[in-house]
Amino acid sequence: MKTKIIVANWKLNGSIEMVSNYLNYLKNNLLNEFKNNIIIISPPAIYLERMYEDLRHLNIFLAAQNVDINLKGAFTGEISILMLKDIGIRYIIIGHSERRLFHNEKNDYIAKKFDLIKNHNTIPILCIGETEVEKKNGQTKKVIEEQLNSIFRISGPSAFRNTVIAYEPIWAIGTGIASDPEYVQTIHKFIKCYIQKHDIMSKNIIIQYGGSVNSSNAKDFVNQPDIDGLLIGSASLNAKNFLKIIDTSLNID
Ligand code: PGA
Repeated sequence: MKTKIIVANWKLNGSIEMVSNYLNYLKNNLLNEFKNNIIIISPPAIYLERMYEDLRHLNIFLAAQNVDINLKGAFTGEISILMLKDIGIRYIIIGHSERRLFHNEKNDYIAKKFDLIKNHNTIPILCIGETEVEKKNGQTKKVIEEQLNSIFRISGPSAFRNTVIAYEPIWAIGTGIASDPEYVQTIHKFIKCYIQKHDIMSKNIIIQYGGSVNSSNAKDFVNQPDIDGLLIGSASLNAKNFLKIIDTSLNID
């Protein structure tokens, strides 16, 4: 069976108490193996190191929610890829619509982060997707092409090998209104074909869906042939919910 990647994106949520309860719940209730699937939790950076050891024993990886384009120096408030590697982080989420919106991150800047992450043998989880207005105006594919093209321009035609893409239609994020799985399937197929046009050798392109995923709809998404995993925000804040999503979407009994 094809590898699926399920990611919990905590965003700006969490506390020492929450981390400890979450880890305890996972330790006591996670009875199954993930087989060839990959489970990742992305808490705020301040909790990454605290969670590392326990999650390693559970075969769960950690992702950072952001990284700076600079390696070191006078960049107050930033976190370097070297620091993330130093504490054992392998995955980094970039291009999330909240960073595009609230931090004014543009395609070319995100592409620099993508390239930096790849050059340091870590794995970017690149979020892409259209706004509601862009969808209504029939611009979804054009927007996605621009998001992908900026990556190709900096990282070359084989940019997407060993990376993860998260297609997150912005209108579905945090709204409780998930996209239609069949619609998402068509977009994922489009993304895969577009990447393969640039790089015919890139076969195992992993594209997750994100946007109001919960334990009731998760399975409908991962059942689609080109939806290779999920990026889950609010429903992942509760360990019980997150485990339920993992169980239903990976078919683990
Ligand atoms: P949501 O967030 O599941 O709360 O919609 C998803 C995301 O932003 O990654």
